[in-house]
Amino acid sequence: MGAAKRMRTNPRQLAAEVLNGLELSDLAESIEIAGPGFLNIRLSPSFLSDQLTDSTLLAETKNPKRVVVDYSSPNLAKEMHVGHLRSTVIGDAVARTLELAGHTVIRQNHIGDWGTAFGRLLAFLDDVGDEAAQDAELSDIEALYVEASQKFESDLAFANRSRSMVLALQAHEPTAIAKWEHFMMLAQQHMSEIYSRLDISLQPQDTRGESAYNSTIAPLISDLQKRDDVLVESEGALCIFMPEFKNKDGDIQPMIVQKSDGGYLYHTTDLAALRYRGETLHADRVLYFTDARQILHFEMLFAASRLANIVEPGVMLEHHPFGKILGNDGKPFRTRSGDNILLRDLIDEAIDRATSLIHEKNPNLDDEQQDEVAHAVAVGAVKYADLSKNRLHDYTFNWDEMLAFDGNTAPYLQYAYARISSIFEKGNIDMGQCSEPPRLDTEVERQLAVHLLRFQEVVEQVVADAKPHYLCSFLYELTVRFMRFYEHCPILSEEPQIRDGRLTLCSRTAATLKTGLDALGIRVLTRM
Ligand code: ARG
Repeated sequence: MGAAKRMRTNPRQLAAEVLNGLELSDLAESIEIAGPGFLNIRLSPSFLSDQLTDSTLLAETKNPKRVVVDYSSPNLAKEMHVGHLRSTVIGDAVARTLELAGHTVIRQNHIGDWGTAFGRLLAFLDDVGDEAAQDAELSDIEALYVEASQKFESDLAFANRSRSMVLALQAHEPTAIAKWEHFMMLAQQHMSEIYSRLDISLQPQDTRGESAYNSTIAPLISDLQKRDDVLVESEGALCIFMPEFKNKDGDIQPMIVQKSDGGYLYHTTDLAALRYRGETLHADRVLYFTDARQILHFEMLFAASRLANIVEPGVMLEHHPFGKILGNDGKPFRTRSGDNILLRDLIDEAIDRATSLIHEKNPNLDDEQQDEVAHAVAVGAVKYADLSKNRLHDYTFNWDEMLAFDGNTAPYLQYAYARISSIFEKGNIDMGQCSEPPRLDTEVERQLAVHLLRFQEVVEQVVADAKPHYLCSFLYELTVRFMRFYEHCPILSEEPQIRDGRLTLCSRTAATLKTGLDALGIRVLTRM
């Protein structure tokens, strides 16, 4: 219609002219002009069938990029809690999807492992004695942190000891550093355990915490000072003034790079990290996943990096924010007493709930199978509930909804995969060996085939927008179409040619479900 307007002609007429010039007889069965000037192309069954049989449903990109994905990145002065869930789950799904599409992904877990909170924690551990500090279980960190903070408020001598601990750490005094290293080792063990239970692909070597940039901040600042247009001294602090960032009184809100006492801020570390990602990791694209409260932080970070040429102009810098997780009462999701829900408790509860559900649905599985299924369903349900919503919105955490076996849930998709597997098992046929072109002579088969051929496009959309819910919607719709086909079309009882063609459709559906769920970090099951 836009083209018709520019050409000052009637859109239907233009459509008719385009139609006259189109030569699509080898792929289209019919082409019709519809509505105000749309062209509806109905793909021919033979074209669909060839596409499904001959070509892979997903080709790797011809333009691979080096993509740094900064996600999860918890602050390890606290135990991992539900506030870390979305960044971990969404970031992991996007990282996996980028890899699936053929990009090189460099995961960066920018953990909070430095700063005043650690002074408090280490001073507190000193007080409780070496022994307790030695075997301080990470399960106690939350309690340790709360007690340390309370003591900091109420006990002046302790507050002073905490401050000297911070200074000792900053001065890299060996005993203080040894304590910090020991604590960080425990904290990282806990983090790895959570990742492994949640099937998160982050590995220890992906961790590059804030402390990793300690030695690169001073050189960065001195490089910035060599240019006269970036850093400005204001009340003893070093700042970057960018006219596009104003507070509500209309004054420019400076980005403070170094405080008047010499200390650095969250911004400063991020500038150093970004420089590393450009210069050392050679990133073409850098993606950050944090909640929406950090939007301004990243806007300022990116603007300052452009101003100071911290990364090459061609590098794409993208913050992908997300909304909050709400409880059923519409308030932020917390325990009854108002505390943060710890991730280990959340995973335990998910597995408990999935175990009783599976036990009820399929009491014939042996114990080992039951554990495997319960784990895949539990983790899948929690992740999928998050991934299937547009990340920009808040979402309500609801156990019954996410664990339902029908609707847009992980168990529904996993169940469809198990159902397809059982067809092959029953027929004693190898899923990987299907090559008979499907005939697609019923509408339900056609609908399924057309949908399967859209996989490539959907993966590309996730890669472009970092929104996994596109892929979830696609997989859900695929499953709905498969179930319709399965209800209407007999398979194993058909004569060989039709049967084998339908098995090809089944195997393509299963492969797409598996690849798609893998990209979301969700396991498939052959039995459920
Ligand atoms: N540790 C931060 C937090 O818990 C998130 C870090 C995100 N990454 C970054 N490069 N700033 O909020």
